[in-house]
Amino acid sequence: MVTKIRIGALISGGGTNLQAIIDSCESGKICGEIVFVGTDNPDAQGLKRAASRRIPTFVVDYKSAIKSFTNDLNKIELPDDFNINDLLLKYSVFPADADLEKTKKFLTLRAAIEKKLLDEMRPYPFDLLILAGFMRILSPYFIDKINSEPDNFRIMNIHPALLPAFPGLDGYGDTFRYGCKIGGCTVHFIDYGEDSGPIIGQRAFPIQENDTLNTIKKKGLALEWELYPSCIQMFAQNRLQIVKKIFELDSGEKVIRTVVKIKGES
Ligand code: GRF
Repeated sequence: MVTKIRIGALISGGGTNLQAIIDSCESGKICGEIVFVGTDNPDAQGLKRAASRRIPTFVVDYKSAIKSFTNDLNKIELPDDFNINDLLLKYSVFPADADLEKTKKFLTLRAAIEKKLLDEMRPYPFDLLILAGFMRILSPYFIDKINSEPDNFRIMNIHPALLPAFPGLDGYGDTFRYGCKIGGCTVHFIDYGEDSGPIIGQRAFPIQENDTLNTIKKKGLALEWELYPSCIQMFAQNRLQIVKKIFELDSGEKVIRTVVKIKGES
């Protein structure tokens, strides 16, 4: 008998990717099952999609938590193993010259909220955590709790651009405004940076003169719904191998990259 992988999902919005993944689990395209759907947004439409398939759901309301912690710092309950210096060393989303106090405050608030997220997830053991339109940055505190070792990547994300171009919140918008002739989407593992983790799969589409932001989003999403399930299935089949590659540039400088090798592909 084939063992199904257990998939946890975090969403923030409409959940069309979540739907494609639920459908793929049901049709057998993904050898897996979704064991929970969590969100930072109490109004996320995707919650209804999960509930209609009897998938357990929970909400950790980031917006109100950030407000209440910011109004009263005494309310912040930090996890026992919180270590700000460790997080500062690892965190690489903000630029190196960012205000240290602001970064400390951001990471402290995040770890306090992520502790709640981890508490909600605890009843549902999982093999893979997927971010399906989850619009919050995860701190190294959270990431280290999921990836038992740095290179044992267990969090996947879908991003609406051909990374490493246009990381951040508005991949299709950035692609459109830049005048790109090709757009696309990327599935990657999460590391400590912003949309910077090892790339698993990408799909691209042409952008014509008469395309609008709306038509670009439509084309992109249609590809996302195919790409994400296929990458999750490769994880389920144990085909995603993490390898460190060392490249020597013409200047003599060495570049080390952590990349995904897909087993069974030449
Ligand atoms: C997708 O475009 C995804 O790439 C991005 O957020 C959007 C989520 O859409 N991260 P949905 O909630 O899956 O419909």
